[in-house]
Amino acid sequence: MPDTTPHRITFANEKGGTGKSTTAVHVAVALAYQGARVAAIDLDPRQRTMDRYFENRAETTANRGIDLPTAHCAVFRGETIEEFDAMAEEMGQGVDFLIVDTPGRDDLFARHAATEADTLVTPMNDSFVDFDLIGQVDSETFKVRRLSFYAELIWETRKMRAIQQRKEIDWVVVRNRSGHTEARNMQRIERALGELSKRAGFRVAKGLSERVIYRELFPSGFTLLDKGHLGELGTSHLVARQEMRSLLASLNLPAHSKPEPTLELA
Ligand SMILES: Nc1ncnc2c1ncn2[C@@H]1O[C@H](COP(=O)(O)OP(=O)(O)OP(=O)(O)O)[C@@H](O)[C@H]1O
Ligand SMILES: [Mg+2]
Repeated sequence: MPDTTPHRITFANEKGGTGKSTTAVHVAVALAYQGARVAAIDLDPRQRTMDRYFENRAETTANRGIDLPTAHCAVFRGETIEEFDAMAEEMGQGVDFLIVDTPGRDDLFARHAATEADTLVTPMNDSFVDFDLIGQVDSETFKVRRLSFYAELIWETRKMRAIQQRKEIDWVVVRNRSGHTEARNMQRIERALGELSKRAGFRVAKGLSERVIYRELFPSGFTLLDKGHLGELGTSHLVARQEMRSLLASLNLPAHSKPEPTLELA
């Protein structure tokens, strides 16, 4: 791929703590492992979880004298959309992917980054509470009662983009941190998500399961993909890497400059 516009992946859910930053870092590192050039913008100057993750990663690799694939990350601290656009333009120079991690709250820049995404990833936990971001479904029939302002915004953006003949937004709702939901609730969630996906126009993909290791990796900046640096790992981590591989595949991202024959995550 020549040096043109990078593919933008925005991680957004106005609900907090759904795993946006954790998933964003893992996707960024997985792409870097494939040989892609990846830049990342953290839109949360207060928490700056993604930025701190990459900072920790840089520190650990420097301390250990090792070299690991990573992304160039920066925090947006500007005050206008124009400033954000300028930063995205600059960070996007010479990279294949520009990843934007957004705060878990209603935020002007997060909404803008969502409408500018080529792939919009919305991590969601298996709970009806989390559905409210997208719309309300009837508790008995699972028919959609009302789409949220957010879903309407994406809908309007898509119409606008079609008129402007710009690339479509691929909206992927990622079911994250699954594992603790009992079967009946899971079925209900699946039906309700199916209804909502038709109305709001997103696809559903399986994300990362609930695993303690995701919480433990942050201080070192390691990811599950950093084989050989994580100490003794049990088989559950092999399953976790497989999950990561499936998630990446289901995002259907475009090919980039230096595709490796396979992504060796296991
Ligand atoms: N798959 C997972 N398994 C276990 N813990 C997880 C998983 N994903 C995220 N976490 C933990 O849950 C918390 C929230 O995750 P994270 O910061 O990625 O969410 P977020 O959506 O970015 O939050 P915010 O909305 O505050 O930005 C963190 O403590 C993180 O380590
Ligand atoms: Mg976050």
